[in-house]
Amino acid sequence: MNYKTEIKKTKEKIDFRADFSNKKSLIAELTAELKNDSTVKEAAELLKKGEIVALPTETVYGLAADALNVEAVQKIFAAKGRPQDNPLIVHIADRSQLDDLVTEIPKKAELLMDKFWPGPLTIIFSKSSNVPEQTSAGLATVAVRMPAHPIMLAVIEKANLALAAPSANRSGFPSPTKAEHVFNDLQDKIPLIVDGGPCRVGVESTVIDLRGAEIKVLRPGGISRQQLADYLNEEVILTSKKLKKDQKVISPGMKYRHYAPEKKLFVFNFEDKFSILKKALLNAENKKIALITAKETEIDLTGLTEANIKILKVFKRKSPEKLAQKLFSLLRDLDSDPEVAEIYIEEIDQKGMGEAVMNRVLKAAAAENDFQPGGGGN
Ligand code: TXA
Ligand code: MG
Repeated sequence: MNYKTEIKKTKEKIDFRADFSNKKSLIAELTAELKNDSTVKEAAELLKKGEIVALPTETVYGLAADALNVEAVQKIFAAKGRPQDNPLIVHIADRSQLDDLVTEIPKKAELLMDKFWPGPLTIIFSKSSNVPEQTSAGLATVAVRMPAHPIMLAVIEKANLALAAPSANRSGFPSPTKAEHVFNDLQDKIPLIVDGGPCRVGVESTVIDLRGAEIKVLRPGGISRQQLADYLNEEVILTSKKLKKDQKVISPGMKYRHYAPEKKLFVFNFEDKFSILKKALLNAENKKIALITAKETEIDLTGLTEANIKILKVFKRKSPEKLAQKLFSLLRDLDSDPEVAEIYIEEIDQKGMGEAVMNRVLKAAAAENDFQPGGGGN
């Protein structure tokens, strides 16, 4: 279908970059106000008619459809060019919506929902027969989350639907953290983008499976594994791969793309005395290389032409949240910068939010080709 894609804002003057996680009464108040907003109403009407709409969440923008409407869900896959075997996350605004979607709520899920919803935590449940195969990609489970964004919540409530919503990017490309990113990827493919400003978290939700004996994080994200382990007082296992010690530079070369810019992206360990980087710069000739680094990183440019290097010091090592918030946006900006030939990014500690950041960075650089539910991007 060909649409003339519109970007619309809501009228309420709310700073959506504020951290609403767990501020249950504030979020309820803002959501109630937004339910009367004309853009929210328009989005809800479109969704009720089986259309797809891009909506802001606290993590990244999502491309939403009625989770229980097969044709609507199929439109998501078509617009994104998403492989059919990658299941969608279902978004709700109230715990009572779970009754239609799942057959069982484990005790630990109750605890986590009390603590981390609304917020960037997605929980895997055994799925009820109401949830179509297209939404869960044929799995017996369904992934559910309650986002901490008043616009998304207001649209869910106004439409009175559970909304399936993957990140609103072209499949394989960096997730969108601004309305314009969605427009660049999906213009003409969707009728409406609701602009809620830049996303606060910047990487997607943490996907967790606690149906078995072990608690597993299938995708690290906005709630760190440490936060979950501390709260549950239990070990929480990461099932997606970590960077191996000897992998200094990850070369592009991929089957499935995940979060990847068009340009080559390399992960760099700056303790390596820049030898690999220098070689790359010497080979780059007239092209410019972009370096995303920590503010503390001292860069020795001896023997290099400074004109060939664009240094972006965007985060402090102790706050990987800052890099998370900017990562996808930086990758998109550098991708469209005609001066930049290749992108290099500094490896950070895989602690706290650093785990989610490095998961995205490594997939963007190497795009591991072993897709598994929860481990994949798209
Ligand atoms: O923050 C987020 O989660 C964003 C916003 C829009 O809410 N959504 C998002 O959706 O990242 P998507 O489709 O880009 O990523 C969903 C991830 C995929 O890795 C998928 O494989 C996994 O969740 N997933 C979905 N349902 C699953 C299931 N039943 N079992 C295991 N993994 C599942
Ligand atoms: Mg995605």
